[in-house]
Amino acid sequence: MSALLEVRGLRLEFNTAGRSIEVLRGVDLTLERGGSLALVGESGSGKSVTAQSLLRLLDEPPARITAGSIHIAGRCVSEGPACVANAVRGSVAGMVFQDPQSALHPCTRIGAALAAVVRQHRHCTWREAEQRSLELLMEVGLDAPQRRVEQWPHQLSGGLRQRVAIAMALAGDPQLLIADEPTTALDATVQARVLGLLSRLRAQRGLALLLITHDLGVVAAAADEMAVMYAGRIVEQGPVREVLAQPLHPYSQALRQALPRTDALPRCAPVSLRGLPPLPEHLPTGCAFHPRCSHALPACALEVPALVARNAQHSVACPLEGQGA
Ligand SMILES: Nc1ncnc2c1ncn2[C@@H]1O[C@H](COP(=O)(O)OP(=O)(O)OP(=O)(O)O)[C@@H](O)[C@H]1O
Ligand SMILES: [Mg+2]
Repeated sequence: MSALLEVRGLRLEFNTAGRSIEVLRGVDLTLERGGSLALVGESGSGKSVTAQSLLRLLDEPPARITAGSIHIAGRCVSEGPACVANAVRGSVAGMVFQDPQSALHPCTRIGAALAAVVRQHRHCTWREAEQRSLELLMEVGLDAPQRRVEQWPHQLSGGLRQRVAIAMALAGDPQLLIADEPTTALDATVQARVLGLLSRLRAQRGLALLLITHDLGVVAAAADEMAVMYAGRIVEQGPVREVLAQPLHPYSQALRQALPRTDALPRCAPVSLRGLPPLPEHLPTGCAFHPRCSHALPACALEVPALVARNAQHSVACPLEGQGA
């Protein structure tokens, strides 16, 4: 059986003011049914654009998929107009954003907002939708759901609003949950509770999770697989334990260094991350990371390295793999 999510060679550009800027430059991602994959990388590397393009949520134009394919549960969502993804959105894959406000209208009570989403996915009466909303709120751990459905978004804390946003993403009983920095705006204790909720939902529903984060601590806590993104490409993908224990790409090594030292993971040789990530409109030639890489050779400026399998699960896009580890 094919993977739940398969992205191959995805290229996407934004056309603004007569200029085309390519921000995804051949993204490859695979997520198995029931699996969990963290997508990590510095700000601007293309994580959110990737997540939104999976469900065709970007405005087209200015966004345009120029090459590659996206398959979710065997359905191609990258071909044709953006509306082809409608059948997949919500019912096969649900999305949770960093800011739960984006899922909740300030002038709509929690219950009405959730019931409206339930009715998008089920042919049912408002009464049945309200009943289903209560069940969903209970499932995401909201206390006193009967009282909560009467409340307005501003009456809930950030953590509770994020739970409601997760309930909305689950309303269509999706097989895949895409969560874009779902805990970044929350304090550490609430963050841990929301991550606990996501892992409970995965176990109970058999959900697959694509988790976007820049926090390797979150990756270690919540995902089995990880993909490291740099300047619109995946530079390394593999099991979290393996990538954190022995990152092969010099960029992954630099990210790994930022993680506090723990006894569970071997030490890495020091790797410094020079300079800033490049802007998509001013990308260096060859490997986009080479100007910041302390191992770079002249050849690195010439050719974009392909993502090559090191073993059945672990791939890396660097011919110098593992030199700094
Ligand atoms: N609507 C848009 N029009 C033009 N460029 C855009 C648009 N949205 C995003 N970009 C550009 O695409 C690139 C990738 O942005 P993206 O938001 O995916 O980064 P990110 O990895 O999610 O960063 P962060 O960690 O800050 O959320 C950036 O250079 C950004 O400026
Ligand atoms: Mg983002």
